[in-house]
Formats: sequence, C-alpha cells, structure tokens
Amino acid sequence: MAKRVPVERNVESYILGEKLFFPTAKRYASNRFLKAALTEKLCIYDKTNLQISGIPSERYINLYSKWGHGGFGVVLTGNIAVDQYHPEAPGNAIIEKSLDSKARRKALKKTALAIKSEGSLAVVQLTHSGRQCYISVNEHPYSASDVQLQGVKFIGGMVNAIKEEVTDGIGLGRPITAEPDLPKKILLNGIQSALASPFEDDLVGTDFGFGLLAANSQMWQAGELPYEETNGDPCYGIMDISIPKVVDAYTPAAKEFLQVLTDAAEKGPVISVFEYNVESGA
Ligand SMILES: Cc1cc2nc3c(=O)[nH]c(=O)nc-3n(C[C@H](O)[C@H](O)[C@H](O)COP(=O)(O)O)c2cc1C
Repeated sequence: MAKRVPVERNVESYILGEKLFFPTAKRYASNRFLKAALTEKLCIYDKTNLQISGIPSERYINLYSKWGHGGFGVVLTGNIAVDQYHPEAPGNAIIEKSLDSKARRKALKKTALAIKSEGSLAVVQLTHSGRQCYISVNEHPYSASDVQLQGVKFIGGMVNAIKEEVTDGIGLGRPITAEPDLPKKILLNGIQSALASPFEDDLVGTDFGFGLLAANSQMWQAGELPYEETNGDPCYGIMDISIPKVVDAYTPAAKEFLQVLTDAAEKGPVISVFEYNVESGA
C-alpha cells in the first residue's frame, strides 16, 4: 500500500490555493504550486545529427500533459539548453537559432499547449550547463553554477514557509515525478503530504543520486501515455516507491543499469534514463 510522509497533525491547505500575481508579465498563477525544474532527458538525441537533437519527443509531451492536468499554478520546464554544445544532459530540449525547424517549433508548441491545458502558466528554464556539462558531450565546457535545493514534503512545512515569508510559492520536484497531480490532491482532496520515498536523503539518509535516477524513471513512465489515455489518473503507470516491494524490485535492476551506463558513458554521450516499465503504479 502507498505510504505518505508522516504528519503530526492535519493542516488547512487553503493558503496554498491562493492566486499569485506576476507584476512583470501581469499574469496570475492560479495557486502557489510550482512544478520545479526537472531535467527529463526525454527529447530526441542523436549525436550524429544535432539538427534533430533536442526536439521534444511524444514521451516528453505526454509527461507535460500529466503535469498540465496536475493542478500547478506554474509549470517550469526542466533544463532547455540554449547552446547545443552545453546541454545539461543528452536528451535535454534545445532551443537554438541554428537548429530552428518546423518540427522543433511544432513539438515545442505541443508541449506549451499540454502545459497550459488547464490554465497553468508555462515558464521555460533556459540553460547553459557550464561546467556541469557531461565530459562525454563536451570536453571543454565553460562557466558554472551548482546549487542544490531541498524541497518540502508536507503541507505544514509549505504553509509555514509562506506564512513566515520565506517564499511566495512552493516548488515541487521529486514528489511530482511520483505524483504529477499532487497539487490537486492537496488543494482538492485534503492530502497532507507527498508520497514517502526511500531515496529521499532527508528522510532515510540515502543518496540524492539514486533519487535522481528514480525520478527520471518515473518521468519516463509518465511519458508512456498522454493524460487523455489514463482514465483521469495521471499517476497511472508510474512506479510507487513508497511501496517496499516496488523498491525491492527496482533497486537491483537500477544498480545493474548504473553499471551498464557507466561502461557506456566511457565510450560517448548516452541518455542516463533508466527505462523501467511497471504495469501500474503499485
Ligand atoms: C530528476 C531531477 C532533475 C532535476 N533537474 C533540474 C533542472 O533541470 N534544473 C534545475 O534548476 N534543477 C533541477 N533539479 C532540482 C529540482 O528542481 C529541485 O530543486 C530539487 O529536486 C529539490 O526539490 P524536491 O526535494 O522537491 O525534489 C532536478 C532534480 C531532480 C530530482
């Protein structure tokens, strides 16, 4: 059975559902939830044909259709590279003048429509990866920044962060690769916290790296079907790592994948997504 992050007491979520005004764009976000930037690595990648690399795939668009129906005020994309030689990872979307094409524009437009299908604001994270660029992609990258953030996993923490004016809104990363519709569940169904994760360093003390791998597997799974084919359940087909038997099956398979990946990465750039299929969320 799915297990959520434990909470001491239930907290009223209504402050999270307040509108937020963006004075420069003069637009309102319908609530305080932001889908955080999560590098998806689901776009076309062909190292021998950069002209098509970085075009959003159907899987990428399907993934955004899940978040588009997830109840976010703002959906921020993952890294979208502005320089084909400095993506954050193979499989990133790329928007660069020299790669402009009808196919790229069409796929990006479909992505924007998927995000905005229920009125979320769409914001693109334009990226130059600097020295975070994989050496297999570019041996001599330039510039750098490497800041890692911690998220909040339960409503009490989210509400406090807003009341104490630490933030105006709540960005959600790993919890919404597990549950693309977590904002809706919080605002409409009284859910009090994110699903528990054994790979969450601040819960159990394991590795952020493994949490990244699982998050990318979940994004890959979410991209299998568009929202319209999930019977109204955006979580359909996404593994639920709050269930121990799911983790017990995933962990050894993922370790094996990491070994294969390490060997392959020595020979050239590879997409580091563990494509792990599950029948349903459970
Ligand atoms: C799979 C994965 C991909 C990420 N990709 C990006 C990214 O493209 N750009 C970025 O600024 N941060 C990225 N992050 C950081 C997240 O946006 C977020 O700050 C971090 O995961 C903490 O939030 P969380 O605890 O809710 O996951 C990524 C995190 C994960 C787990």
